[in-house]
Amino acid sequence: MNVFTKTVHAPLRRLGFKIVRLTPPANSSRLPVRAPELASEHVRECRLFPSREAWLPTIPEGGTIAEIGVANGDFSDAILRLAKPERLYLVDAWHTSRFAPGFEHVSARFAADITSGRVQIRRGFSTDALRTFAPASLDMAYIDTTHAYALTAEELALCEPLMKPDGRIAGHDYCEGNAVTGIPYGVIQAVHEFCLARHWVFDALSLAPDGHMSFSLRRG
Ligand SMILES: C[S@@+](CC[C@H](N)C(=O)[O-])C[C@H]1O[C@@H](n2cnc3c(N)ncnc32)[C@H](O)[C@@H]1O
Repeated sequence: MNVFTKTVHAPLRRLGFKIVRLTPPANSSRLPVRAPELASEHVRECRLFPSREAWLPTIPEGGTIAEIGVANGDFSDAILRLAKPERLYLVDAWHTSRFAPGFEHVSARFAADITSGRVQIRRGFSTDALRTFAPASLDMAYIDTTHAYALTAEELALCEPLMKPDGRIAGHDYCEGNAVTGIPYGVIQAVHEFCLARHWVFDALSLAPDGHMSFSLRRG
């Protein structure tokens, strides 16, 4: 009998309590580990925005941006209108039945900008596509794929050498998970670990009415 059983369970049983051992939920292995806490220096110069659309116009115009995870191009459209990049790379595998129609949709939606070369589609898995970019070639990368811990951690690591000295690594879904579907996310853990290990700091945090915030990081 361990100490806890002797000092807590036994007296409760004597009082008539029934001790029930709960089985962990089937998806417990997918639950994110609690993220490590950041230090004050990681958020000292972080700006707060009411939405990611309010943050986009603060990004210097004429840059080179990559959106990783595009779907139907709704946020790509916002990036083009509000951040006014010279070049926007759209990276997506469009590999699932839910998102596959997005490829045709995006190709048609941005046809004029694709023809001019302002928009370039790089279809493929993020971990393959990110390896096709030149070092120090991007002003901003916006990560918005599965939000799983391992993939997000790998995407952050792959993005780092691609960023110009003052480049920003940003992304969506800086939150614990999707409250509607119950799917946990590992974005907070991956981002905090990345900041601590690689000395990046928060540049901006964008609120969202649904709690799916966007982060933006710069080198510390
Ligand atoms: C949440 S949606 C992107 C939404 C978009 N950024 C927006 O705000 O409008 C996620 C997209 O990521 C893509 N995706 C998921 N896993 C991926 C991976 N490993 N590599 C590339 N794309 C991926 C999906 O095909 C899907 O289109």
